[in-house]
Amino acid sequence: MIQIYDTDVIFRKEWYGLKDINLKIEKGEFIFVTGPSGCGKTTLLRLMYMDLFPTKGEVIVAGFHSSSIKRKEIPLLRRKIGVIFQDFKLLQDRDAFDNVAFALQVTGAPKKQIKERVLKTLADVHLSHKRDSLPYHLSGGEQQRVSIARALVREPFILLADEPTGNVDPESTKEILALLKDINASGTAVIMATHELALVKRSPYRKIALKMGEVIEDTSDYLKEEIFLDKL
Ligand SMILES: Nc1ncnc2c1ncn2[C@@H]1O[C@H](COP(=O)(O)OP(=O)(O)OP(=O)(O)O)[C@@H](O)[C@H]1O
Ligand SMILES: [Mg+2]
Repeated sequence: MIQIYDTDVIFRKEWYGLKDINLKIEKGEFIFVTGPSGCGKTTLLRLMYMDLFPTKGEVIVAGFHSSSIKRKEIPLLRRKIGVIFQDFKLLQDRDAFDNVAFALQVTGAPKKQIKERVLKTLADVHLSHKRDSLPYHLSGGEQQRVSIARALVREPFILLADEPTGNVDPESTKEILALLKDINASGTAVIMATHELALVKRSPYRKIALKMGEVIEDTSDYLKEEIFLDKL
């Protein structure tokens, strides 16, 4: 579903954002992308929603190739991908309902369908009672749940989350993780960048660790090795 081949991202001369990345991500996986500040987590996610293109190599997402995708096809790709950010990026002058509805209005969906889908998605993130609230009146955790609803309302099959718990308290962190797990259980691939190692250590999910732009660990490789060893 996502394939990254021999990919480098070079921002300035000799300044690598990412180096020699080879990754394959299958349908429905849950993946943590970890590593210290500046190691390339955001850069890797940006490649996946084609907000950034490789300097060398190829990124293939949902059948779209980074080397040949046309500018007008990018919105089609983005419809299949939900993205959430550490700072939520909500429209401050619109209430929770309208923030979520906006993601569907731009697709030209009929009004009645928009209303039904937005109400259902707000219920899924346990925020039906806050539908009329402006972001300013919501807690960090609630704002992040509005942004998750906005990403989910288009029923994406990949959800990219860039440090989604970076600006919320420990209780909301748990809630957001539980939501991401539910979303994954319903079939959506979730790829989450985080530097909260404690959170990653306890989890059974695949972990991709980056250091200075390079993958230094991918736990799915262990899995492959185990299968290989079993066959010996
Ligand atoms: N647009 C850009 N122009 C130049 N350099 C950039 C750009 N974006 C990122 N970089 C550099 O690329 C490297 C990786 O940045 P990236 O934002 O992907 O790190 P990160 O792992 O997400 O860090 P953090 O945990 O702080 O969010 C850093 O050294 C950064 O300074
Ligand atoms: Mg980042």
